[in-house]
Amino acid sequence: MLTVTTADLKKIRLDTLAVPVCQDKAIYKDTALKAAAKKALGLKEFNGKKDESLTLYDLPGISARRVIFWGLGKHANIDRETLRVMAGKIVKGCLQKEPATVWFAVPEMKINGLETSTLLEAMQEGACLGNHLFSKYKGDQKIKPLKQIKFRVADGAARKLRPISKRVTAVCEGTILAREWINVPSNDKTPEKLTRSIAGRAKKQGLKVRILNESQLKQKKFGALLAVAAGSQSKPSLLILEHKVPHAQKTIALVGKGVTFDSGGLNIKTGNSMASMKADMSGAAAVAATLISAAKINPKFNLIGAIPIVENMPSGRATRPGDIVRSYAGKTIEIGNTDAEGRLILIDAMSYVVKTYQPHYVIDVATLTGACVVALGENIAGVFSNDEDLAGAIIAAGEKTHERCWRMPLPEDYKDLLKSDFADMSNIGSTRWGGAIAAALFLSEFTADTPWAHIDIAGPAYHGKESAYCGAGGTGFGVRLLFELFDKLES
Ligand code: BES
Ligand code: ZN
Ligand code: ZN
Repeated sequence: MLTVTTADLKKIRLDTLAVPVCQDKAIYKDTALKAAAKKALGLKEFNGKKDESLTLYDLPGISARRVIFWGLGKHANIDRETLRVMAGKIVKGCLQKEPATVWFAVPEMKINGLETSTLLEAMQEGACLGNHLFSKYKGDQKIKPLKQIKFRVADGAARKLRPISKRVTAVCEGTILAREWINVPSNDKTPEKLTRSIAGRAKKQGLKVRILNESQLKQKKFGALLAVAAGSQSKPSLLILEHKVPHAQKTIALVGKGVTFDSGGLNIKTGNSMASMKADMSGAAAVAATLISAAKINPKFNLIGAIPIVENMPSGRATRPGDIVRSYAGKTIEIGNTDAEGRLILIDAMSYVVKTYQPHYVIDVATLTGACVVALGENIAGVFSNDEDLAGAIIAAGEKTHERCWRMPLPEDYKDLLKSDFADMSNIGSTRWGGAIAAALFLSEFTADTPWAHIDIAGPAYHGKESAYCGAGGTGFGVRLLFELFDKLES
């Protein structure tokens, strides 16, 4: 769908060409593009300011029916995200107008230190992600995604730039797959259904798939995970996906929270707080999609995806506040609140992967706490880690992909908050303050000293409103981040 092409814009007939324009610097060498950008900037109604746009028809010198000029703003303020947003908004705007193909002119000069390859990559990401529509549950859909998005580069640059599309396509397809799973309503993604859906996609992509079903989980004593599933009509599972990369030395285990609906259990959620809880499997979606995309582009690491899938419901069989359960690792846990369920399924999955696979790193991705959203808002994830390098690499990866992450502390003395009078630990802190930290400290007890990071994506996983290159709903946060992280970590 994304292609890099060279074309003489004076000759080739096309419908729509988008031309990003910088406010204060020329960014094209091609004579036709240079002249067109100059002409647009010469008009009163267009200055190249950020997000300003101007559409001209049948412009002499360019054989496109429609040319959309888009302002990038001042040279010194332009970054990767400026280009993603530009491309995403242009594609979204074009969906209404129904061309099957849109062309983008790729800047031919460095912008603010960014190479043309970086500019192209960011433009392709924004365009590809902006082209996603979730319409599975809509009847007659008038708006259709574009069939082709073409990126015009200079003759001499094409050979070097062409390979970029393959990686961008694989990673963005993963992001879109995660979004789709998140957007499916909980009645259509019971734990059984979601398990089947993920396992099916994973097998099709050539991943090794293992499913621990309810009776195997009982037999192997996944007491914490089973306690969360107890109130639901649906049966839980632990899905293990494996991708081996030839010659890779190290293994990274990814663990994703897969609560297909979080009602809170007997500590039932109130008011509006239950409304978006179909998205409580966003960590699972990100991990599954990352493994599936990894099978297409082989990162430097062997990967294990461990995905516990349950539904958290109240019923006569549900786990009660005050109940004590024994986790897979053997520690007993008093259930202080049945709504703190994510940490219970994560510790059993984490204990299992560290014991079974001895990975070099464990990274869990989870919509874990409302407290993290209170702390960092809807657009920034919290990162907790026992390893400086791993934490630093995650933060740096997020800066690059604009999946922003902020390091949070794991203060040793706060562990006292998790003390229980009757069991080894409680699943909630004894105060309401610092809830994201309490949850992370709870997880930290089950890492068996493996370098570990926990990414709390409760804020950025799901957005009620659309944005430049994402529709309303699941964002797929985490997939691009993890691929960028694999590049950053030493293999
Ligand atoms: N799934 C929620 C966390 C959440 C909140 C995700 C908002 C996305 C948006 C989690 O299972 C939960 O309910 N956490 C409780 C923990 C509390 C009971 C200690 C919370 O954050 O209130
Ligand atoms: Zn909950
Ligand atoms: Zn939850």
